[in-house]
Amino acid sequence: MKAKAETLQDARGTAGHDTRTDEGCPLHWFDTDRGAFEDLERRIAEHPAGFFASADFEPAGACATREAQFASVDLPEHPTAPQVHADHLLHDVFRHVMPVASPTFIGHMTSSLPSFMPALAKIVAALNQNVVKLETSGALTGLERQVVGMLHRLVYGCGDAFYAQWLHDPEHSLGAFCAGGTTANLAALWASRNNLLRARDGFAGLHSAGLVAALRHYGYDGLAIVVSERGHYSLRKAADVLGIGRDNLVPVGVDADGRMRVDLLRGTLHDLQQRNIRPLAIVGIAGSTETGAVDPLDAIADVAEAFDCHFHVDAAWGGATLLSARERGRFAGIERADSVVIDAHKQFYVPMGAGMVLFRDPAWTQDIIQHANYIVRKGSVDLGRHTLEGSRGAAAVMLYANLHLLGRRGLATLIETGIDNARYFAGLIEQQPDFELDSRPQLCILTYRYVPEAARAALASPATPPERREQLQQALDALTIDIQEMQREAGRSFVSRTQLTSSQWAGRAIAVFRVVLANPDTTHEILQAVLAEQRELAGKSGKLAAVMRHSSK
Ligand SMILES: Cc1ncc(COP(=O)(O)O)c(C=O)c1O
Repeated sequence: MKAKAETLQDARGTAGHDTRTDEGCPLHWFDTDRGAFEDLERRIAEHPAGFFASADFEPAGACATREAQFASVDLPEHPTAPQVHADHLLHDVFRHVMPVASPTFIGHMTSSLPSFMPALAKIVAALNQNVVKLETSGALTGLERQVVGMLHRLVYGCGDAFYAQWLHDPEHSLGAFCAGGTTANLAALWASRNNLLRARDGFAGLHSAGLVAALRHYGYDGLAIVVSERGHYSLRKAADVLGIGRDNLVPVGVDADGRMRVDLLRGTLHDLQQRNIRPLAIVGIAGSTETGAVDPLDAIADVAEAFDCHFHVDAAWGGATLLSARERGRFAGIERADSVVIDAHKQFYVPMGAGMVLFRDPAWTQDIIQHANYIVRKGSVDLGRHTLEGSRGAAAVMLYANLHLLGRRGLATLIETGIDNARYFAGLIEQQPDFELDSRPQLCILTYRYVPEAARAALASPATPPERREQLQQALDALTIDIQEMQREAGRSFVSRTQLTSSQWAGRAIAVFRVVLANPDTTHEILQAVLAEQRELAGKSGKLAAVMRHSSK
C-alpha cells in the first residue's frame, strides 16, 4: 500500500481518483489512512453547535435541495482518496445541513445531544452489533431488555416481583426498540390488531389467516383506529399498512387546548358500533406534534374500558415528561394504557433512530411472535422474536448512557427547562401588540403568528364584515408563510410552521409559527431576538401590504 502523502498527491493529480492499486483487501485500504476523517470528526462531532456557528458552516439557503449537485447517478468506478472525499463531504454536504444543535434552531423536535454522545455513537458503529439475535449482540440483548424495563417502570410503575418475573423471560416482552415513533406506533397497533382477531374456535387467527378471513370469522364489517384530529400522520400509515384503511383512522374533535373531546369520542364509538366497525384501538396523544397538547388520558382510559377497547398512547414526543415529578401529573392515566410509544431520539436526547413501544401486559406480543430456524429460534431470548424490524443497531446503549450519566434528575431538568422556556416565550408573545399566541404551551411546544396592530383591531372589531375578515385571515396566512420562509433563508434562526384549526377564530385553519423549545441552550435573549427578527422580516415582506389593505376600513 502506498504512503498517505503519496496517495493524496496522486489523488490531486488525477482529479480526485485515488491511484492506489487494487492491492490487498479494500476493507483495509484505509487502515493507516484515516487522517482526513479524524480531522472532520474533530471539527464537527466534538462540538456540533460550534461547527454550526463557525465559518465552515454556511447556513443561508440550507433548505435548498441542491439537486444539481447530486444529479449524477454514475457509480464511482475508481476509489477516491480519503482527503478528497472528506473535503467533498465538508464543503458540499456537511456545511449545508441544518443546524439542529444550534440554540436558535427552535422549529423542530430534533435538537442538540449530550457532548459524550458522538464518541459513544462511534463506539456503537465500530462494534456494529446486531441486536436482532443474541449471537450477534451478546450482552446488548440483556441491556436492551433492561432499558425497556426501565421505561416500562417509568410508565406503569409495576413492582419488583413483576420485573423479576418478566424482564428477561424469553417468551414475553415488555416492549421493543424501533427506528422511531412511526414504527413504534405501527408495532403497537400490529400487536393490538393480532390480539383482537386472535385464534379461537377453530379459526387460526389473523396472523395466519389474514384480515378478510378474520373479519368474516369475527363478524365485523371493518376495523377502525380512533384518535383526535391532532394525531400524528404515522397513524395513517399504520392504518394503511395494517389493512384497516386510511379512511378508517377516525378523527375526534379537540377542545380549545387541542385535547381530545371525550364526549365526542363516546359519540364516535357509538357510531362505529352501529356500523359494526370494531375499533381496534383508541389512541390518546401525550404531547401532540403540532402544539404539545396532552389528551385527557384518564378519561379516555375510562371510555376504552367501557367499550372493551385497546388503549394506546402515542407519547413519542411527550413521554420523557414522566421523568419530571413536577410535570408528570399531566399524564395521569397513561399507566392504564395497553401500549405506549416513546421516542428516545426526541426528549431522551439520543441520536436519530431510536423509538420504543411498551406493552403493559408482557404477553401482548404472543400474536406477533416470530421464529426462523437460523435465527430467532423458539425458546431463544433473541429480541427479533418480538419486533417488527429485523437487523437493528444497538441504539439502546445510547439511552442506557443518558439514563446513567444524566440520570432521572438530569433528564427531568432538560424537560422542565424546555417547559419553562415555552411558558416564558408564551408570556413574551402575549406582551407584544403585534403577535398573537395561538396555543398555550402544555409542554415545550407552542404556536403563534405575527398580526400587525391594525389587523388585530380589525379582527377584534364586530364591525368588520365576514368577507373582509376572511380576506384578512388569508392575507395573514400568506404573511406568516412568507416570514417563516424569509427567516429560514436568512439562516440566523429557524421556526417551523403549520396550519391549525383555531378556536380563537371559530375553527378556521390558520397558518402559524411552531416552536419547539427542546434545546436547553436557547436563552430568553434568543427568544426575544426571534420575535424582533420576525417583526423586521414582516416589515420587508411583500405580503404585508395586503394585510394592511384588508385591515383598513
Ligand atoms: C406524537 C408523535 N408520534 C409519532 C411521531 C413519529 O415519530 P418518528 O418521526 O420518530 O417516526 C412523531 C414525530 O414527530 C410524533 O410527534
